[in-house]
Amino acid sequence: MTRHLLRDDDLTPAEQREVLDLAAAMKADRHGFKPLAGPRSVAVIFEKQSLRTRVSFEVGIAELGGTPVIIDALTTHFGRGETLADAARVLSRYVDAIVVRSHEDERLRELAAHATVPVVNALTDGFHPCQLLADLQTVRERLGGTEGRTLVYLGDTANNMANSYALAGVIAGMRVRLSGPAGFEPDAAVLAEARRLGVVEVVGDPAEAVKDADVVATDTWTSMGQEGDGLDRVTPFRPYQINRSLLVNAKPDAVVLHCLPAHRGDEITDEIMDGPQSAVWDEAENRLHAQKALLAWLLEHS
Ligand code: CP
Ligand code: NVA
Repeated sequence: MTRHLLRDDDLTPAEQREVLDLAAAMKADRHGFKPLAGPRSVAVIFEKQSLRTRVSFEVGIAELGGTPVIIDALTTHFGRGETLADAARVLSRYVDAIVVRSHEDERLRELAAHATVPVVNALTDGFHPCQLLADLQTVRERLGGTEGRTLVYLGDTANNMANSYALAGVIAGMRVRLSGPAGFEPDAAVLAEARRLGVVEVVGDPAEAVKDADVVATDTWTSMGQEGDGLDRVTPFRPYQINRSLLVNAKPDAVVLHCLPAHRGDEITDEIMDGPQSAVWDEAENRLHAQKALLAWLLEHS
């Protein structure tokens, strides 16, 4: 069976652990794993902007011994008539895996339904599972594990990162708390699924939410594609900024995460982002290791 990672719950708890164990091994021996030697090729398609995802996949595939094929959607036929189903059939003849950053999750599902090689979600409107693997790797490094820890996500609880934190967080054995303003509530179906797998609380008051937190995470208040949606994406979010006065409510050694790019002064202050509790640079680096492990794992299990 061809395995895909379209959303965080495509991996069971045991499988997520396997990928994260492999990611740690790959980080410890960065050039020691060559499962894509041959070389095998991986297409990485972008229908939205990127810095980290693009570079970490391109470098990571090369480090695994493979050939990365980076595709900017604007220079292909996506969006001008060629169906994703046909593109998936064609790409499956050329490459060993397809990584896609796209808009609606339905686009990714259609692509995966017609691909005969693994498809990886490199961010959609609904989920960012590669980011969560890197985040979990970072939490393991900083806190020694994820089981039984409390992870709090502040800000736009209606976005892709909120969904991924809810799902991947409970799969990693964490208690997840989501805290954001009215009007930006978590997706009901994702919340229900996450609650089937573990404990997810929705807490309106940010100070209450971060109480006893082991991990405090945030993300931009305006995700890619939302720039012109006409909503006030600043004023209602201000109480959810990660700053010193909010963070004192968390555990003293709480780890601060941000997937980046950050809007310093909005969702997080300079002081916190550049301070001792911030793990954001390790988190960004771990995209490389976690994605290398994910690709190797998917190819081995497909
Ligand atoms: N965190 C993340 O996915 O960054 P990019 O948008 O730069 O890839
Ligand atoms: N929620 C953000 C994440 C960026 C990595 C977005 O979708 O733009």
